[in-house]
Amino acid sequence: MTEKDFVPAGYRATIETGSFTWRSPSNIALVKYWGKRGEQLPANPSLSFTLDTCATTTTLHFEKREQPVSGFGFDLLFEGKAREDFKPKINSFFGRIESYMPFLRHYHFTIETSNSFPHSSGIASSASGMSALALCLMSMEKEMSPGMPEEHFYRKASFLARLGSGSACRSIEGGLVVWGRHPGIMGSTDLYGVSYPGEVHPVFQTYQDTILLVDRGEKQVSSTAGHGLMHGHPFAERRFVQAGENLSALQQVLKAGDMARFTEIVESEALTLHAMMMTGKPYFMLMSPATLQVIRKIWDFRKRSGSNVCFTLDAGANVHVLYPEEEKKAVMEFINNELVAYCEKGYYICDRIGEGAVSL
Ligand code: DP6
Repeated sequence: MTEKDFVPAGYRATIETGSFTWRSPSNIALVKYWGKRGEQLPANPSLSFTLDTCATTTTLHFEKREQPVSGFGFDLLFEGKAREDFKPKINSFFGRIESYMPFLRHYHFTIETSNSFPHSSGIASSASGMSALALCLMSMEKEMSPGMPEEHFYRKASFLARLGSGSACRSIEGGLVVWGRHPGIMGSTDLYGVSYPGEVHPVFQTYQDTILLVDRGEKQVSSTAGHGLMHGHPFAERRFVQAGENLSALQQVLKAGDMARFTEIVESEALTLHAMMMTGKPYFMLMSPATLQVIRKIWDFRKRSGSNVCFTLDAGANVHVLYPEEEKKAVMEFINNELVAYCEKGYYICDRIGEGAVSL
């Protein structure tokens, strides 16, 4: 597949007015995407768990214009309120995908979007938001191209979502999703996310993710700026190779249900992501004192209880606590007794592996 395969040859049907709604989940990377090249292509392959509870629901209303216009025409409502400040991101997304969706200027859109998690939670909404919007646009395109194969629909949705935000391409399918070409993973590509094709032990099919909201503030560094720091970073090339090696190692781990080795790889990936930020130019420290306290507590609990609980981090201070479903009771007790104190206003979100985006 190449980009050209996503340029439609023409449309067989027209649509005047209507709306589509999709609910799309967030995802948490086990092997991190950090660094990009070209037009939103990843510098290394990544692998994520699709989440369930943390999601964006987007309704795209469309109305055909008499004449196509020079700019993109849309209104944006976030949680029921018009948000001018969100528009530039959508505008540049439309600009990036226009050659693959040539109908965009022929319609006026109203985008109504809301998140299942509080906006100021420090949880990135770009993955769920961009994937939900990409799916709504694909539903439109499907109406105009009756008989579009399902595989093309989801691939192209992921491809478009990637152009909005890299990690968003991993929020279409459920379970484990790979994005970025890896020689050992059949079908993996830089262009879109694919369902992880390897064998996955049952223990990893119901993994839990409790997200501790350690710092609910705005992100200190946008991910786009963060990825930029990998250009000319002294350790970048080695890091990109390491991500591929970690993905190779994870294949065996996922198959065998090896939680000890899973912990080592996943925690190392999280710390490496932050190490890259700490050693960039300029350098950033996105962990807060509470992040470190939580990590120490997790290590301590694991040592004394023999639990398989581990953590991962995004490009921020919040901690994702990962554990097998069968340990839910013990880990939630540990979280409530020892970790809630580090969460802002005691806030956390219980999430788990989910089944991917759904049309509503
Ligand atoms: C640390 O996908 O948010 O969460 O492509 O610039 O929108 P853009 O970046 P984004 O980066 C996510 C980085 C990460 C790791 C990951 O999800 O793989």
